[in-house]
Amino acid sequence: MPKKYLQYKDNWQDHFNKQGIQSESGFIPECHDCEWEDKEEGHSWKDVLNKKLVGSEGITYWDIKFSNTCNLACRMCRPGDSSTWKQIITDDYTDPYYKQFREATWHKDIDLVLSQIRSVKYLKFTGGEPFMIPQVWRVLNKCIELDIAKDIEVYITTNATMLKHLDKLKQFKKVEILASIDAIGERYEYIRPGAKWQEVKENILELNRQFDLAVTALPFIFNKDHTHELDAWCEENNLEIRWSPPLHDPEHMRIDALERCPDKFYKYAELMDKQHNTNWREWVNA
Ligand SMILES: C[S@@+](CC[C@H](N)C(=O)[O-])C[C@H]1O[C@@H](n2cnc3c(N)ncnc32)[C@H](O)[C@@H]1O
Ligand code: SF4
Repeated sequence: MPKKYLQYKDNWQDHFNKQGIQSESGFIPECHDCEWEDKEEGHSWKDVLNKKLVGSEGITYWDIKFSNTCNLACRMCRPGDSSTWKQIITDDYTDPYYKQFREATWHKDIDLVLSQIRSVKYLKFTGGEPFMIPQVWRVLNKCIELDIAKDIEVYITTNATMLKHLDKLKQFKKVEILASIDAIGERYEYIRPGAKWQEVKENILELNRQFDLAVTALPFIFNKDHTHELDAWCEENNLEIRWSPPLHDPEHMRIDALERCPDKFYKYAELMDKQHNTNWREWVNA
């Protein structure tokens, strides 16, 4: 594994204790998203957690990335987050952003994690795609088996392409789903090649009927002039929308990519188009 991700066996407690001390005098780079949300919206995820975790004992909040197993290769994503990206990447993707985690392997043995499960009160899963990652469901099954699910809140960020095990999720105290879409209709399908808007739309509405759900969206080059379309769809369907801070990395997918690094944008937009048989000129005015 590259050094960037701490593993469970690493001394992550000391690492985060040090970061906690550093952050007392201001935002550290890792806290970029909360800094942006504080500035733009006056509150952020850290405020939610600070309230929830006050006076807690043991390791009550778990934010775990088990692997990059994912069925999609969305245009703004990368091999470290998606196994499909890892499979389709070619040597032409020379930018360090794509090289990161190309050789990463993941530990499949989660017994060490499971042995600590009794203190957990909040479980957060991203990925990869959590609905596809067996270890996510092993953790959730263990909580059900130990009869502690009713005391645990679960947070899942998903691409909403598949619905599975909803009966299991129902057994938890609370489930909050963040469904990542970024756009609607054909633009959605351009951004997330292989995903079908009609299916994803139905899945999101179904998840919203059963759980607390918000749509999450990332502003970047391929949706920058169309954010109102997603806002309107969410409003029509009574769905909360949470726009993330605008994409920062990779540079050639930023909102201003055409002004700041046009050649890099052309290179990667065309590489992806070649792989997905698409044409970026239909989606961005250049
Ligand atoms: C990596 S995905 C994993 C969870 C799930 N597969 C999904 O798409 O929601 C987590 C979030 O990161 C967002 N994301 C993807 N590429 C990104 C990038 N380059 N910068 C910031 N966020 C990104 C996705 O839109 C999603 O909301
Ligand atoms: S679904 Fe999520 S993890 Fe998979 S490629 Fe898209 S953004 Fe990345």
